[in-house]
Amino acid sequence: MGIVLIGVQWGDEGKGKMTDFLADQVDAVVRYQGGANAGHTIVIGRHEYRLNLVPSGILTGKLSIIGNGVVLDPELLLQELGDLQEQGHDPALLKISDAAHVIMPYHKILDAVEDELRGAKRLGTTGRGIGPAYRDKAARWGIRVADLANAGTFSDRIRGAMERVNAVLQHVHDRDPLDPEEVIDTYLQYAEEIQPHICNGPAMINDLLDDGNRVLFEGAQGTMLDVDHGSYPFVTSSNPTSGGACVGAGVAPSRIKEVIGVAKAYVTRVGDGPLPTQMTGDLGEKMRIRGNEYGTATGRPRRCGWLDAVILRHAARLNGLTGLCLTKLDVLSGIEELKIAVAYRHKNRRLEHFPRDPEVLEDLQIEYISLPGWTENISGVRRLADLPEAAQYYVDTVSDLAGVPVNYLSVGPARNQTIECESL
Ligand code: GDP
Ligand code: IMO
Ligand code: MG
Repeated sequence: MGIVLIGVQWGDEGKGKMTDFLADQVDAVVRYQGGANAGHTIVIGRHEYRLNLVPSGILTGKLSIIGNGVVLDPELLLQELGDLQEQGHDPALLKISDAAHVIMPYHKILDAVEDELRGAKRLGTTGRGIGPAYRDKAARWGIRVADLANAGTFSDRIRGAMERVNAVLQHVHDRDPLDPEEVIDTYLQYAEEIQPHICNGPAMINDLLDDGNRVLFEGAQGTMLDVDHGSYPFVTSSNPTSGGACVGAGVAPSRIKEVIGVAKAYVTRVGDGPLPTQMTGDLGEKMRIRGNEYGTATGRPRRCGWLDAVILRHAARLNGLTGLCLTKLDVLSGIEELKIAVAYRHKNRRLEHFPRDPEVLEDLQIEYISLPGWTENISGVRRLADLPEAAQYYVDTVSDLAGVPVNYLSVGPARNQTIECESL
């Protein structure tokens, strides 16, 4: 059976930690969208892993598949894989779908140049070439892993693509052109190293499911960064929502039996764009320090805000969440009064959904409910019943507002700092 694990906010909800926690219970882990813009942190003992591309299941010795929906940066992938091998993990567990698209050096250059061109309206992308690579895929200019594996096809495709790209770099952006032969040489070396990992992704994943294996689909980014359902245009260029797992891995919706939404107990956002419940004054800065809220992929500070039930409801519905996992509950310890947004208001109108109009977004009032905080350090708690009453009440309230049961609580970055909730 298929289990999808996704972020329900703006990314960095703790998907890496929860994938690692659940990896013991599954046979394979699949990444289905995004690329090295993702940064998934997993803490095992004293070691902190930061994975950008390799599915988090590799750390528990599980088959780890990069699906067709991912845009793959071979340079970063090989670095990551080399590091993992040095740390004693088996690189042979990694499989890469031959239909995944490849990030080329010009994608990264264009990503940076184009975001700069947006000026004050910049998206604050990770600069990993994600938008230009997905654009090329949709425009049918893209280069797939299968193309990379064939030296003749690859060289022809690259020479053709770079004629066009170099014209844009020189004449639109006033940049130096790239040498196609240099790119071809470099990428053909990557191709040799990647070759043993290449597979037919959908065939492999469907065979696993047919044979009764449990497959976990590890989302990157989050629902509010989804190109269709997020806070457009301040989004990424793929579909992190649960439907994206079907397209990005090549499995039918009927294969997905569980959809676990990972939500932080508050919200954060790295990069630009609206964050309606952003904390003002000292509290935002305090939360950033307490939660160590700095981007895993880029090191940029994350903005912090109160938990937002408007987007939780949106995510519950869009993704068909069967369960929630509430992370970083420990970070809320010591805050006297906790708030949760239950609706937005614009010019005396109550809005129950995330508005699409940027002018409305700029002039939102937030309707909050207040909940009592708790002072105890809860990072050592392992049973729901041992949490302070106020923390249990907070979790109950989140579950009610989202209309989804809370399956797991996370009270620290380590694998064992997790509470499995039988019932609430
Ligand atoms: P992802 O992108 O969704 O995998 O999340 P990131 O790894 O980018 O960011 C989550 C951060 O929070 C990482 O530094 C984790 O180690 C850390 N983390 C995860 N769960 C918890 C938790 O319950 N409590 C605390 N204090 N930190 C956590
Ligand atoms: P994980 O998987 C948080 C944000 C960027 C930027 C926007 C577009 O670790 O949760 P892109 O480079 O994708 O074109 O940038 O999306 N972003 C993320 N924010 N977590 C992520 O991944 C993100 N991946 C992209 O900061 O605002
Ligand atoms: Mg992250």
